[in-house]
Parts: sequence; structure tokens; C-alpha cells
Amino acid sequence: FPCEVIRNFSIIAHIDHGKSTLADRSVQLLTGTIPRKVFGANQQVLDKLKVERERGITVKAQTASMIYHSNRKKYLLNLIDTPGHVDFSWEVSRSLAACQGALLLVDATQGVQAQSISVFHIAKERGLEIIPVLNKLDMPIADPSRITAQLQSMFGINPAEVLQISAKTGRGVEAVLQAVVERISPPSGSVHEPLKALLFDSQYDRYRGVISLVNIKGGVMRKGDRIVSCHTGKKYDVTEVGVMYPEEIPVTHLQPGQVGYIACNMKESTEAHVGDTLHQVNAPVDPMPGFQPAKAMVYAGVFPVDTSDFIKLEESIRRLTLTDRSVTIQRESSTALGQGCRLGFLGTLHMDVFRQRLEDEYDANIIVTAPTVPYKVIYRDQTVIVSNPTDFPDEWGPASRVHGVQEPMVKASIVVPEEYLGDMMDLCFSRRADNLDHRYLDSGTSASARVMLTCTLPLSEIVTDFFDQLKSRSSGYASFDYEDAGYKASDLLLGLRIFQMTFLLNGKPVDALALVIHRSVEHKIGRTWVRKLHKVIPRQLFEVPIQAAIGKRIVARETLAAMRADVTAGLYGGHYERKLKHLENQKESKRRMKKIGNVDLPQDAFFDILSTR
Ligand code: GTP
Repeated sequence: FPCEVIRNFSIIAHIDHGKSTLADRSVQLLTGTIPRKVFGANQQVLDKLKVERERGITVKAQTASMIYHSNRKKYLLNLIDTPGHVDFSWEVSRSLAACQGALLLVDATQGVQAQSISVFHIAKERGLEIIPVLNKLDMPIADPSRITAQLQSMFGINPAEVLQISAKTGRGVEAVLQAVVERISPPSGSVHEPLKALLFDSQYDRYRGVISLVNIKGGVMRKGDRIVSCHTGKKYDVTEVGVMYPEEIPVTHLQPGQVGYIACNMKESTEAHVGDTLHQVNAPVDPMPGFQPAKAMVYAGVFPVDTSDFIKLEESIRRLTLTDRSVTIQRESSTALGQGCRLGFLGTLHMDVFRQRLEDEYDANIIVTAPTVPYKVIYRDQTVIVSNPTDFPDEWGPASRVHGVQEPMVKASIVVPEEYLGDMMDLCFSRRADNLDHRYLDSGTSASARVMLTCTLPLSEIVTDFFDQLKSRSSGYASFDYEDAGYKASDLLLGLRIFQMTFLLNGKPVDALALVIHRSVEHKIGRTWVRKLHKVIPRQLFEVPIQAAIGKRIVARETLAAMRADVTAGLYGGHYERKLKHLENQKESKRRMKKIGNVDLPQDAFFDILSTR
């Protein structure tokens, strides 16, 4: 396949606008077979990924190659998948690095949504040719003329270029492939140049080690080649090259412009650096600009419910990170929960996905602590990134060593029908929003006009229940996306406003429950958590004060009344079996008891507290 008959493209869309359906339909059209599922078919893990099925989202990018005949010419279409969620926008941008064009797929019943806007901008910045496609035209409520007008006003798209399809029935899909061939330019590169390959994704295979997805920018990659990574300088022997068709099919070589996979005896997944340039041993090339590595934005501690399971848990986490290297790991130990790991994620959905995979695929019984964002704590002579509330300085005054705290901010975009604009603004204001602005996506003001609201928000305000609130206050209509907006000093003029909140049982702090919070919500959060603790902690032989504190200041308190010790005290003589059962139950729960000072706290109580945020 010479370059001029190759088209590398991607489908970019808001969640549920029909990306996977269009990919499946295209493969079906071109191969005549109904694919199992184009994306995910190559990876055993993904096939089983319950969380993907349940949430209907794509978590990890994949590619599929197809052969398309048009005007008596044979084209090789490489469709590179991009995940559809805000947490994974990093993966979107690296998948797009291997493409020359993108289909911007918009659901004609819903119109432009928050992620349509963010992915459009990522693609535009990369200089890709964008083909606008309206989907779900088979549905009676589809409103193509209104959505076309939205595309025109939002993105300056020419209405004549907008394609209308139904990925479900197949109507218009052929025209999409034709547009891919006609409108997207072929990749450049020559077989006569030295080999230059962009490594843009990788996955781990138990038998073959790391399988890397590459885009050949120049030269030819063959089985048996000896290649070098520009990033590490390490050398490898290529043992297999192939294309995703959409299943892996080994081929003899990959040519310029092609997208395919290679196996080269990389043992550790950390050896495959996304954005790395590969070349032949004796023919060095200039490395291509790499990608910014993914930045962990949400951290949480993960502990085994049964402390003796730690080794097993750590092993499971390490195995799981082989397929998802954007997770960062550190060991952590807590007096309350024992040994665990502190993990860093790209966002909260990413965290949920990982947690569910641990539970589903590794049968792990875990407790996950409240998510925290990385704060910058500024001392006189250094700045420290703190991603664990227990490391947050708990008290400071003018005389202390802390000069300031900065928190990570995001630029948020919310797309919502106009009638919910007020509610959305209220929600944003209650989360310390700044620079609030809005614009109409539809010209004129019909009752269902869509509005895009933008503002800056502290990341910490969206890692807990923001998304749920957004959905419930907009009857499910609001869509939301955000991008990194750097760090911002927290209200320095008003004095420091971000604090560590600790929870005390009988005067002793429970480290696993520490939080970093903004002063404006200290009472609300303090009260909520203290009440939760009161509900789940079993009564003790003595009265136990449960307190929320900031430094030495107590902001909320409940008191747990004392109880009688003997659980069998109420049972009369004859009920021997019942008595025995009670004693056994007590023994079993003792096994998992944690002692905080002199208070016994069952491990399950942590689970209850932390799983009902
Ligand atoms: P993510 O992978 O989560 O980003 O979603 P997606 O964009 O891949 O969406 P998917 O293809 O899973 O489609 C979402 C839903 O819309 C599914 O229930 C599809 O059956 C449905 N759907 C997709 N295309 C059409 C269409 O043309 N018409 C109708 N009526 N439904 C469609």
C-alpha cells in the first residue's frame, strides 16, 4: 500500500453519540461480516471489561484497518479509536497524532455536547481535516437542520460539508467512507527514508510481552529488524509486525503511513513510552516531539479489607497497571487500615474504572479512601506537591513555615438546555466558580435552546459529587467536560483557606479519614462525616466522642453512647445455640477490628463510610 491510498483517521464524539456503532458498521460494510466488536476485540481484557459494558464507555483506544474499494482503487483505511471521556483526553490527543483527519460525529437528536467541543478543538489544534457527521437520523426527533446550524455557529463548519447518517441502519455510512478517501489527505513518507516509527499506544500480552501500536512516518519496519528507542536508547529485535484487521494479522512489513502493531521482546510495559520514536540500529533519526505524559489529578488510598491480603492486592494492582500505565502507584501505610497503596488517576471516572476492574478481574475486596487532588504547598525555600491529606500541614499561622497553598484548577464547559442555566450557575457558584460566562449554541431563543456555560473551578470541587449533581439538577440533560487550567493560589489575600480536616475518635485521629477541604465547607463536611461515623461505628463499653477538627479547632461533634459488653446478656439459659452463634459472630468481627486509641472499629465501618460519599 503506497501512501497515497492510505487514510488514517479517527472518530471523535461525545459519549453515546454512536462512535462504536459507526466503527462496527463500517467494518461490516467493508468486510461483509458482522464484527464482534471492533474496538476491544483484540484485547481479551477489554472484552471482559464489565465496567465498559455497564457504563457503555470506551476506556482504552484501539485501531482497526479496513480495505475499501472506490473508483477501481484499493484504499487502506486505518480507523484509530479514541476514548470518549474527559478523563482520557490525553489518550485522545495521542491517538490523533497518528491521524490526518477525523470524523466529528454528533448525535442529531442531542446536538453539540461538551465533549464534542473539546475533541473538536484537540483535532483542530493538530491540524486535522475534520468531517462533520450527524448520526441517528433514523430517529424521529432528529433535528439535522438545527444541529447543522449549531456546527456552523460553534465551529464555522460549512453546512454543505455535513453528512447525515444512521450508524444503526447503515444509511449514509458508505458516503462517510467515500468522504474519508476524498477529503482526508494521505500520510506522507517514503520507503526510501530511514525507518521512523511513532509509538502511540501499547498493551500488554501475557505471552508476547508488550505489543506496541506504531505509525510508520518513514521507511519500512520488518520482522527481524533491530530497532532502537530514541527515548531510552535500548535496542530490540522485532519478532512480529502486523495490522489490526480488526483482529491482529501478522504481515511481513509495515510501510510509511501505515498503522500496525509490533512485538519486540519488551518485557516491561514501562519500556513502551507513548510518543517515542523508533529507528533502525544503524540509521539514527531525529526523534518526533513526544507527548506530555499523563498527569495524575486524583489520588486515593487503596487498602485491603482484610489486612493480610496486602501482598495479593499489591500484586493485582501491579498486574492491572500493565494494561493501564496512566495509574501511578506508591506504597502507603495507615494506622487504621494497615498497608495499602496510594494510587494516582487521571480523573474520578478513571478511578472508578480501575477500582471496578480490581474488584471484577482480581476479586479484590478493598477500601478506597476519599479522593484528593494534588496541592502545592509553598514553603520559604521549596514547593511540595501534597497528594495525601495526612501529609498536608495541619496548622499554620503567620509565623509558621507555610507561605501559601495552591490548588489545581480546571476550565469547565457545561452544555445544557437554557431552562437549566440558572440551576447550573447556582451549582457552579456553590463550588467556588470564577470567570463564569455563557453563550448560546443555537441562534434565536427557542424553548429548548442550548447554552454553553464556561467557568474555572477548583478541581477538588468536581472530584466528589459534582457530576451527579450536574445530572440531577438538569434532569440528565447537562453534559460536562473540563481541561487543566494550572494551579491557582487559594485566596491568599483573605488568608489561607485550605486546611486538613481530621476526624477524632475519643480524641485520637483516624488517619485514613483525613481530608483536605476549603474553609467555606468545613461545617457542612464536618457534620456530614461525623454523622456518618456515628451511624456506622458500633457502640463501645464507654462513651465515645466523634469529632471533626481543623488543627485544634473542633468543627463538628456527635457522641456515641456506651453499651453493655456481653452480647449474650439478653439471652436466657435455654438458647444455647443462639448464644454460641452470637459469640462466634463477635469473634469474626473482632478479627477485622481496628483499634483507634481504645475504640474498636470494624474494618467494614470504613467501607461503609468511604463508599457512601
Ligand atoms: P462511547 O464508546 O461511550 O463513547 O459511546 P459511543 O459513542 O461509541 O456510542 P455507541 O456506538 O455505543 O452508541 C450509543 C447508543 O446509541 C447505543 O445504544 C447505540 O445503539 C445507539 N446508536 C448509535 N447509532 C445510532 C443510530 O444511528 N440510530 C439510533 N437510533 N441509535 C444509534
